[in-house]
Amino acid sequence: MKQMTIALAAALGLAAAALAENVKLPEPRKTGGMPLMEALAKRATSRRTAGEAPTPQQLSDLLWAANGVTRPDGKRTAPSAMDKREIEIAVLTRDGLFTWDPVANELVETPACVDLSAELRGASALLVYHYNKAIQDREAALADCGFVGQNVYLFCASEGWKTVFLGTVDRVTLAVALGRGEDEILFAQRIGVK
Ligand SMILES: Cc1cc2nc3c(=O)[nH]c(=O)nc-3n(C[C@H](O)[C@H](O)[C@H](O)COP(=O)(O)O)c2cc1C
Repeated sequence: MKQMTIALAAALGLAAAALAENVKLPEPRKTGGMPLMEALAKRATSRRTAGEAPTPQQLSDLLWAANGVTRPDGKRTAPSAMDKREIEIAVLTRDGLFTWDPVANELVETPACVDLSAELRGASALLVYHYNKAIQDREAALADCGFVGQNVYLFCASEGWKTVFLGTVDRVTLAVALGRGEDEILFAQRIGVK
């Protein structure tokens, strides 16, 4: 029964995705912030991530820090094994679920066919890290994801925000919402904007 519900939800999700709209984010701010050594000293996990709704500028800065494009050849703030750039970031906010396109710096609305409020838990945002298993092996993807998570930790330290990297997530629900395989959902990271 649960499988039938999930299959139906996935089908509805695919239909809704066809209606999705793109939200162009402002240019990320690539200067300033806390000195690196201070950010390293302040990096920490906080599970108290209830916070304000992020502005488009804050989301743009956060996502660029996570895995944004830094060079004309498309390379990123985070390294990836064999330069596969397979880590994809979905962004859950109170406004909905989006998939981030790092090249266009756009959020593509991904209407969730399941209730994700338990995943957000009053946080400002939840970043869901997933990958395409057709282009990368899981071991490399797990390593690549760790770099993205650390970028986010350092950015949050610099901004004075709270964050927690999460291995314990509802992969079944997130996979259905994103139309991905359960094994393609790697980790998530909750963010509290202060
Ligand atoms: C791979 C990985 C998975 C984690 N999963 C969770 C999690 O599911 N829930 C949680 O509260 N913290 C999780 N954490 C955060 C760790 O508990 C935290 O990093 C650790 O306690 C050290 O604290 P620090 O980050 O402040 O140095 C995870 C961290 C890593 C690296």
